[in-house]
Amino acid sequence: MSNRVKSASARIILKWLKKGNMARAMRDILPTSGLKDDEREEVVAIVHHVVRFKKLYDFALDAEKKERNPKNYVWLFFHDDILNKYRKIAVQNNMIDVYFSASTEVARVLQIYPQFTENVNREKSTHIAVNIRKIKREDALAELKSEGYKANYCNPETCIAAKSSAKYSSIIKNGLGIVQDSSSQHLSKLVASLGSDILDFCAGSGGKSFTVKFFNPAAKVKVHDANEDKLQSLFNRAEKLGLDIEKFDFSGSFDVVLVDAPCSGLGSAARNPEAKYQENLEKYPKMQMEILSEAKKYVSPSGFLVYSVCTFNPDETYLMVEKFLKENSEFEEMELADGKFITKEKRGFFITSGDIIYAAMMRRKV
Ligand SMILES: C[S@@+](CC[C@H](N)C(=O)[O-])C[C@H]1O[C@@H](n2cnc3c(N)ncnc32)[C@H](O)[C@@H]1O
Repeated sequence: MSNRVKSASARIILKWLKKGNMARAMRDILPTSGLKDDEREEVVAIVHHVVRFKKLYDFALDAEKKERNPKNYVWLFFHDDILNKYRKIAVQNNMIDVYFSASTEVARVLQIYPQFTENVNREKSTHIAVNIRKIKREDALAELKSEGYKANYCNPETCIAAKSSAKYSSIIKNGLGIVQDSSSQHLSKLVASLGSDILDFCAGSGGKSFTVKFFNPAAKVKVHDANEDKLQSLFNRAEKLGLDIEKFDFSGSFDVVLVDAPCSGLGSAARNPEAKYQENLEKYPKMQMEILSEAKKYVSPSGFLVYSVCTFNPDETYLMVEKFLKENSEFEEMELADGKFITKEKRGFFITSGDIIYAAMMRRKV
């Protein structure tokens, strides 16, 4: 590992320690660092590891009587033996926030779902959703490889896994695909199969709407989001992708209404490790219930209401759906069979091929 890599990593960590926002610290420093793609990937791995295990790093540095500074965080990254020693001590002493390296609230959620710890803490590939209406997936893979990106197929049939630098590839630049986690692609595939009039009620800058259209080009997709800037970005991206998507005007009813709600994001902590240090998780359920209560009005008789969140915090997942169903007896729960990346959870299911997404399918009774 070169000194250039170590020094860039330390600079990013310093910025993150001062200002928070790991992604921004990387964006501010990496492009002007003069590092090659491979070196950048190494920097990303170091920074992710430090942020992901920050509480463990602090515990180990304190115990080793070393100052908590960027240089020492980078030094410790190369000393697995020391990190493992202190991880064991934290486990033996039931220091859950240290061994999960999370806020106490988040550590308690991870205690409920220890099977997700590995997913949340691993370095992940970047996934591309190929616009299969414009290019075959095998041609997209060949194109990525010809540009020097290591890439492989993943699931579902739109998905390619690659290094994060593939976001600069011609496939993305030319609107032949988007960066989107494989679990989101599975969710879009499900939504696309449920009907042809679809409302994406929390569309953000468009990810799921786009892949719904990749899977079901005939679908009429309307979008809404509380954030107008995101919607503007959605329409710019849709144009580049050649997709016809309309703005929702608060009228009509739909075969499918997708509520991809704002959430604590613990399921995407592998990509955004800062999510693990959150407190006040209780702010989300209220917001989610309000959005569901508004969105449900636009579900047609026997239409579907799909609720999804990228988290596994019970208050935001099955307990939320349980409450919604209790208060809205005109909706019933629809079950989905277990599949390769789909496991049943109370009132819904988890998709676990990439990020951990919880989703529940509800249907308006006729
Ligand atoms: C998890 S993100 C959606 C991501 C998006 N579906 C995608 O696939 O990229 C949640 C979105 O909900 C939006 N939001 C927050 N409050 C809302 C509300 N009351 N009504 C509609 N959208 C809301 C946020 O602006 C944010 O874009």
